[in-house]
Amino acid sequence: MFVGRDAVVSRLGAAVKRAGDGRGSTLVIRGDAGIGKSRITLELEAVALRAGFRTLRRACFPGDRAVPSAWVSDMLRRLATDPSDAQTIVAEAAPAFAA
Ligand SMILES: Nc1ncnc2c1ncn2[C@@H]1O[C@H](COP(=O)(O)OP(=O)(O)OP(=O)(O)O)[C@@H](O)[C@H]1O
Ligand SMILES: [Mg+2]
Repeated sequence: MFVGRDAVVSRLGAAVKRAGDGRGSTLVIRGDAGIGKSRITLELEAVALRAGFRTLRRACFPGDRAVPSAWVSDMLRRLATDPSDAQTIVAEAAPAFAA
């Protein structure tokens, strides 16, 4: 159960709707430890899946600072069913991140 977050759910729904119209966006979810940030990202994923999107999830860690774009290429590589496709997928989706 996801309680007491009607306003947030409404904003997530609006963002997913905009994405469906070709207008992607970035949502920044911040708050105190344990307040429910991760849970909100799970809810966003559920909303997106219900709307027919494919979703990718990747956490970032302090070590990622060494290569700040790594999370993008890492997620995109997961779209490849054949490992040899990975570089092409990254190059097409995010040329700036292709090695
Ligand atoms: N709206 C909610 N309804 C029900 N349970 C919730 C809700 N929000 C969070 N929880 C539960 O509370 C716990 C803490 O939530 P969550 O892990 O999302 O917090 P967090 O802000 O990501 O924490 P951290 O700062 O440690 O990463 C989890 O067990 C989660 O399932
Ligand atoms: Mg968390």
